[in-house]
Amino acid sequence: MRLLVCGGAGFIGSTFARLRLNDHGDDVTVLDKLTYAGREENFHDLSGDERFHFRRGAIEDGEAVAAAIEAASPEAIVNFAAETHVDRSIAEPDAFVRTHALGTYVLLEAAREHGLRYLQVSTDEVYGSIDVGTFTEESPLRPSSPYSATKTGADLLVESYFHTYGLTTLICRGSNNYGPYQYPEKLIPLMILNALHGDPLPVYGDGMQVRNWIHSTDFAGAIGHVLEHGVPGEVYNAGGPDEEANIDVVRRIIELSGASESQIEHITDRPGHDRRYSLSSEKVRALGWAPRVRFDEGLADTVAWYRENSWWWEPVRSGDYRSYYERQYGRSLR
Ligand code: NAD
Ligand code: TYD
Repeated sequence: MRLLVCGGAGFIGSTFARLRLNDHGDDVTVLDKLTYAGREENFHDLSGDERFHFRRGAIEDGEAVAAAIEAASPEAIVNFAAETHVDRSIAEPDAFVRTHALGTYVLLEAAREHGLRYLQVSTDEVYGSIDVGTFTEESPLRPSSPYSATKTGADLLVESYFHTYGLTTLICRGSNNYGPYQYPEKLIPLMILNALHGDPLPVYGDGMQVRNWIHSTDFAGAIGHVLEHGVPGEVYNAGGPDEEANIDVVRRIIELSGASESQIEHITDRPGHDRRYSLSSEKVRALGWAPRVRFDEGLADTVAWYRENSWWWEPVRSGDYRSYYERQYGRSLR
């Protein structure tokens, strides 16, 4: 397939681009605005491949999208492009509205004009928090943060293009991802890098919030599987095989990195913090996909990757991320 991968310079989008080039022989054009989270380093190993192309541009910019489609002549658009951090959406929601609402609209219009298959990458956070049991595709949408609310709006717009215009749309909702190339504002890479540097490990509230972890290669695989085998107009959940309380994840990272439990610091909880996410993947499993990486093994590999790839995170940890960290946590990094 020839794919236009929007947001392909981010964590999961670059993992998806790598998978499609290396394992499926696809042609991949990445369109990415290169926000703080988008980095060419994320596809450093793909740049030499003649089937891979990168264009810098925003999805809300109709001209940039039209030019990318003209150049790539894709059969499908896969949209990863998003603002993705809940804490940033609480502090500054405007980019979330622009990218998720306007950006998704511009891509849908382009897909409609050119008759392209369209896959929206989405999140379990659209369902809100669940104390017991697990969300299915039929669960009501009850987002609670500006991040998840704007992602939900984008999903609804995608569905409207299926119902109204007959566009071939698919939505794939993932649970919390982890793995190499994840920007260190998120729990797992933040804790790994702080652990390795002897910085405090900032746990929100009691740390008993539960997340359903999926390795990024498994989520990328699910997205490709849904793109190839999904029924147009349908939503598919892709949840990981393991659920863990945050505090247990942090303790495991301490063990794997040789840090100390005394680095744990319980700090003021996130406003509106979702207590638990849990996603049923039966529908996509029935299409023939299953996650391969268990959390224990995936986390050990991820800690090893960050340990061995300081070239990737050193520029981040010494740049704007430092001032973000100070604003968010009220203290400096070492
Ligand atoms: P990320 O923050 O690492 O990457 C996002 C990418 O989108 C970056 O490269 C950024 O430059 C680009 N981008 C942002 N705004 C853009 C715009 N207006 N135009 C073009 N490019 C833009 O995020 P990620 O973790 O890789 O997430 C990718 C997708 O997967 C998102 O849609 C997210 O909602 C979804 N998702 C993420 C998780 C997770 O745990 N990280 C879980 C489920 C779903
Ligand atoms: P995060 O990685 O931000 O993902 P999400 O909010 O999308 O689930 O956070 C994962 C969990 O870790 C969430 O319950 C919030 C918690 N957390 C902390 O306790 N401390 C932190 O510094 C961060 C970034 C997250």
